[in-house]
Amino acid sequence: MTEWHKSDWRQKPRVQMPDYTDEAKLREVEARIASYPPLIFAGEARRLRNELAAVSRGDAFLLQGGDCAESFAEFTADGIRDTFKVMLQMAMVLTYAAKVPVVKVGRMAGQFAKPRSAPTETVGGTELPSYRGDIINALDFTPEARIPDPERMLQAYLQSAATLNLLRAFSTGGFADVHKVHAWTLGFTDAPEAERYREMANRISDTLDFLSAAGIKSEQSHAMESVDFYTSHEALLLEYEEALTRVDSTTGKWVAGSGHMIWIGDRTRQPDGAHVEFCRGVQNPIGLKCGPSMTTGHLKSLMATLNPNNEAGRLTLIARFGAGSVGEHLPRLVKAVQEEGANVVWSCDPMHGNTIKSSTGYKTRPFDSVLREVKEFFAVHNAEGSIPGGVHFEMTGSDVTECTGGVRALTDEDLSDRYHTACDPRLNASQALELAFLVAEELTDRRACLETAKAG
Ligand code: PEP
Ligand code: CO
Repeated sequence: MTEWHKSDWRQKPRVQMPDYTDEAKLREVEARIASYPPLIFAGEARRLRNELAAVSRGDAFLLQGGDCAESFAEFTADGIRDTFKVMLQMAMVLTYAAKVPVVKVGRMAGQFAKPRSAPTETVGGTELPSYRGDIINALDFTPEARIPDPERMLQAYLQSAATLNLLRAFSTGGFADVHKVHAWTLGFTDAPEAERYREMANRISDTLDFLSAAGIKSEQSHAMESVDFYTSHEALLLEYEEALTRVDSTTGKWVAGSGHMIWIGDRTRQPDGAHVEFCRGVQNPIGLKCGPSMTTGHLKSLMATLNPNNEAGRLTLIARFGAGSVGEHLPRLVKAVQEEGANVVWSCDPMHGNTIKSSTGYKTRPFDSVLREVKEFFAVHNAEGSIPGGVHFEMTGSDVTECTGGVRALTDEDLSDRYHTACDPRLNASQALELAFLVAEELTDRRACLETAKAG
């Protein structure tokens, strides 16, 4: 069980992966990527693991978010900046409420491969293979576009490298300085959540001014001026993952160089399957999506396989059941974790269980369902005595119209205005910030309850 090699997954049954027809081209691309530098470094993945260990103890909170699927067409500096900016704003709101550090992880710089519910798609009587993300094939509804092309891995690698380069610059180059908490306000000046954000930013600025007037120079002033921002994606396309997997020279262990954190999707978590086999051998923090079909038996076996030494920060369980279903599924899984004495981070993905078809034909998610699932997640953890460690959102900094509701009350009719996602509907900047305030309320309530319990 401990012996592992990065290509062992090839011996296991695989699902949701393309059947490449041009074997020679595939081998050539894999070799090329294997010779390229990794995108992230082992020390960074270790640091994220330590931070997630703090999340598992309730000493930090995880904010994970970004596109459902990154795309080659929608790749711009402004797009990256805006999503980064909204995540900083959300993190500020959450830190302010939770009074603990917020660990920021983007679904960025590698989130290109998508599992699909059906292998083919039929439009007007024509049936074609499904679109599986830009790293595999193209969205256009033509037979040529849907052929899996290994060369696309090279483009995904280069786009990820350029994205990470910009994220690293934003994180340390002054943009993320907490003294600029006001400057992160986006163009949505009239929105109520922007007003709420400005009020909070005023209080933060006042505190910073007071500290500086009192001559208190934080030992950690570097921590105020820069931010740790990590990347993550679903480790779905294993040829790509394997090519970027390297031995860490410090520890002699394998590390996936494609992103800091990788996760296993709800459709690819078969305990004896290829994706679990790959993820068990790399040292990165691993996410595991838990949907309604996750049994307690499977969860226990997956925890044993993916985290045999029960290390805190290694495994994040991402619950995604759908509003109204959390109470049916989460308590049994929380109990399974408690029975095993397992160290995990519990995170809530209120997106993937709440996708519906709007009356106007668009795939959407009602803001109210998203919020309701978050509230149910907190309620279960409060009742079970476990720790609600984080949230996982599909969101963008752009002003898209993909999810309905929110304070600006987007309707089914509004969806056609700016519906740009390559896959699932995302919260727009305004909805994401509003949701952060609502999650913050849950965190504040929880903190108050815990303090009352301690005092009593
Ligand atoms: C996703 O996160 O984009 C996704 C496909 O999620 P899940 O595996 O939970 O359906
Ligand atoms: Co999605």
